[in-house]
Amino acid sequence: MSPRPHNFNAGPAILPLGVMEEVRESLLDTNETGLSVMEWSHRSPDYDAVRGDVEERLFRLLGLEADHGFRLLLLQGGASLQFAMVPMNLARGRQGAYVLTGAWAKKALAEAKRLGLGEEAWSGAETNFNRLPSEGDWAEPDACAYVHLTSNNTIFGTQYKQLPRTEAPLVIDMSSDILSGPIDMDRVGLIYAGAQKNLGPAGVTVVLVREDLLGRTPEGLPAYLDYRAHLKADGIYNTPNTFGVYLMGRVLAWIERHGGLDGMARRNGDKARVLYDEIGRTGFYRTTADVDSQSLMNVTFRLPSEDLEKQFVQEAKSSGFVGLKGHRSVGGCRASIYNACPPESVQALVSFMQEFEETNG
Ligand SMILES: Cc1ncc(COP(=O)(O)O)c(C=O)c1O
Repeated sequence: MSPRPHNFNAGPAILPLGVMEEVRESLLDTNETGLSVMEWSHRSPDYDAVRGDVEERLFRLLGLEADHGFRLLLLQGGASLQFAMVPMNLARGRQGAYVLTGAWAKKALAEAKRLGLGEEAWSGAETNFNRLPSEGDWAEPDACAYVHLTSNNTIFGTQYKQLPRTEAPLVIDMSSDILSGPIDMDRVGLIYAGAQKNLGPAGVTVVLVREDLLGRTPEGLPAYLDYRAHLKADGIYNTPNTFGVYLMGRVLAWIERHGGLDGMARRNGDKARVLYDEIGRTGFYRTTADVDSQSLMNVTFRLPSEDLEKQFVQEAKSSGFVGLKGHRSVGGCRASIYNACPPESVQALVSFMQEFEETNG
């Protein structure tokens, strides 16, 4: 087998190696059934147990006790489908208020606008999305249906340190930082996230919704787009990504073994500090995000010229580091250091950065 590179891909992204090995072991015979999870019926008790296990672990990790009032959906269509499903289900003829902190937030608003159900509450476009709004920067529009924000901006490398307190329910796209640390669920109305960064493989979308909000869903939505249809059918309204859900369960167990969300926060904080310290050490590298808004998941940085950035990414690749090119819309470099990214990979990257600077600085 080829040696595994240090993986800094933005998503789909690195998965814990131990989980991949575990899944390889169980691929032909999952949970002593003699069959692969991919061959089971989604209506079988075996799959039901896998799905139940995912739900139990997720609620436990989030510190949600009995009667917490949240419901879990494991859907398909990615976060991109939620850009439309959220307004369809929750707006109820009013406007969702969108805090625009990057490309994904803009896409979410664009979908809501198509339906006539979204308005801008704040935009960081003027400073090229290099910072998040602080409390005094924006006011929640009166009588909005919900406030939508993107907790971590994968492309611009910014992340909320604390969720704002809002009057209207808070809807959060957590695609790129879900379970990277504790989440203040008291502030949350709905969370959605594609699995392919912190939770598992692409093809599963987590939606956690406060049950009382489901009363807003209008009659007459196409069934797949109606949250209630999925709940009524116990998560098997249509054939789910059974393998993806199974793998997610293994990732959640890995998070539990590594200290839960507090453990993830420590691990991610430590990794990010090492990398930001190196970026700030001499001025050869520079971050693109304001210090107060810097992401612990996607560390975006620039070199003195675009030519050097190109060379950096190329030489890094030959030295066994993948995924360091910034998003095509912004250029520069980006190291995505999600939960599963080992501290050793960050250390190795820092050594590579030092060598590159010595030769080219
Ligand atoms: C913050 C954020 N939201 C939404 C998306 C889109 O997710 P999907 O491809 O699952 O639709 C991404 C993808 O990278 C993302 O980073």
